[in-house]
Amino acid sequence: MTIHIGAKPGQIAETVLMPGDPLRAKWAAETFLDAPELVNETRGMLGFTGTWRGQRVTIQGSGMGMPSLSIYANELIRDYGAKTLIRVGSCGAMQEDVNLRDVVLAMTSTTISTPSTGIFRELNFAPAADFGLLMAAHEAAKERDVPVHVGGIYSADVFYDERPDLNEQMTRHGVLAVEMEAAELYILAARYKARALAVLTVSDHLVTNAPPLSAEDREKSFGDMIEIALEAAFA
Ligand code: HPA
Repeated sequence: MTIHIGAKPGQIAETVLMPGDPLRAKWAAETFLDAPELVNETRGMLGFTGTWRGQRVTIQGSGMGMPSLSIYANELIRDYGAKTLIRVGSCGAMQEDVNLRDVVLAMTSTTISTPSTGIFRELNFAPAADFGLLMAAHEAAKERDVPVHVGGIYSADVFYDERPDLNEQMTRHGVLAVEMEAAELYILAARYKARALAVLTVSDHLVTNAPPLSAEDREKSFGDMIEIALEAAFA
């Protein structure tokens, strides 16, 4: 047990998928894992452990934003020995040729700040995905004919951003999409020698302002993303 995770030692797998939404963790565990067992419900941030093709997997909610994800990722890695952490979540597209429902694999993430900013001070650390996971996820997306983009994303600190100029700079510099968690996950993975990747589905569009996905479309896209993440984890 840790401060924020109630699982007993051994109840967390070495491979962890992290959706932001705890109810998505429940849905994904019940849909894709065999014999899913509830291993955490502290603060309602549900986590489940089961097996996928015979391999143990935990699906644990991260909450929204880097401070929340940082708490869970720290405890998963440092206290429970997680070695592969894959964020599965939604993002807002920042390029015209990135469409709703497409998958974005974050090679790196630009950010204005993270819970790790205090360590780096004047350095702009470059958070990076694990190359093996990235390649395997790309392969898995191609195999299932899911439109996929690989490149930089932006991990923002605020959803209701009062600085639209920041988004404009990101678009101008080729950043594919915005979300709020990946940079800190990559930094923690680097610090503790774990593997990390963010597999994201585009749920809204900041450039074209296309109407956001319906709940049903979001669920279907979310399913593709979970399978891509699982295939990458065990490739
Ligand atoms: N902004 C920030 N985070 C997000 C968005 C967005 O538009 N869409 C999904 N996550």
